[in-house]
Amino acid sequence: MRIFSGIQPTGRKHLGNYIGAIAQYVAGQERGEAIYCIVDLHALTVAYDPADLRAGLYDLLAVLLAAGLDPERCVLFRQSDVREHSELTWLLSNVTSYGELSRMTQFKDKAGSARELATAGLFFYPVLMASDVLLYRAQEVPVGDDQRQHVELMRDVAQRFNARFGDTLVVPEHRIPAVGARIMDLQHPQSKMSTTTGSVEGTVYVTDAPAAIEKKLKRAVTDSGDEVRRAVDKPGITNLIEIFAAVRGEAPEEIEAELKDARYGELKSAVAGAVIDYLAPVRERYADLRGDESQLEAILADGAERARSIAGETLADVRERMGVGAPRRDRPLR
Ligand code: TYM
Repeated sequence: MRIFSGIQPTGRKHLGNYIGAIAQYVAGQERGEAIYCIVDLHALTVAYDPADLRAGLYDLLAVLLAAGLDPERCVLFRQSDVREHSELTWLLSNVTSYGELSRMTQFKDKAGSARELATAGLFFYPVLMASDVLLYRAQEVPVGDDQRQHVELMRDVAQRFNARFGDTLVVPEHRIPAVGARIMDLQHPQSKMSTTTGSVEGTVYVTDAPAAIEKKLKRAVTDSGDEVRRAVDKPGITNLIEIFAAVRGEAPEEIEAELKDARYGELKSAVAGAVIDYLAPVRERYADLRGDESQLEAILADGAERARSIAGETLADVRERMGVGAPRRDRPLR
């Protein structure tokens, strides 16, 4: 089983990223050949500062290592180090339609009303993401719920490519966790927790100090009524129950049974304590790892070399199938 996922080096990573994605990456190391990519080229699609991008990349790499990614047990690399991603994006853009890219909800959300001013890169974002996964012929893509549509698109692109040029690419499946696939903002529980669109007070960052985590959870917006149970008209309480279940590794039903007589305040204190315990070891290891940038670069260089050897093979096959470049004589395709 080959597993691939990517994560952007922008903004401070939050509890939604951690529960929805990073915890799954760590688990993936036990289940198969895991490949994880820090997608700095995706980060160019919206306004950014070059120095912040570099710093954010080291921040994220240190968080991933602190969370338990082990470069001995997975391939961990920076997207821009493996140029095959950019080339495959161009090639696959010719089996992707303008119409399907226009329908991507993330493009519509990020471009907003100023659609004319959005970069062409933002429009192409899903093609780059398809290339990320398809280059490694991965079977499984662990992501949060917000990436569902992008994974659907890469499946369509792979199927269309295979139908047009012959069987070359693996059609991947998403792996979206049953609990915690969509962690909501603590202040606006109708919106997902997000560094770009969320509120600072409603977002728990992975490297937040315990006092900050406690404050944010204790001020979390709750709903009318007083019962601790999940319901459509109780988005705040539902979110707190999901967070609690995810960090404790239990089913939400178990949490509801345990807290059926509790008050909202008790729920908030219990969730705060659990999240603090969950993130404390990560924050401590992060502080040790973040300082040594040359060590972080050495990890990325090693990861890139391993990634390139897989990506190079797929790209050569795709070029051959599409009739691009000199014909391959070493390993003719069927
Ligand atoms: P990014 O960097 O925005 O988010 C990284 C991962 O975190 C998940 N996530 C959440 N999960 C639960 N609750 C939330 N509130 C929440 N917010 C974010 C995301 O679903 C994601 O899994 N396009 C991707 C990066 C990417 C990628 C790839 C992913 C590029 N190439 C190839 C998979 C495969 C993104 O922007 O993720």
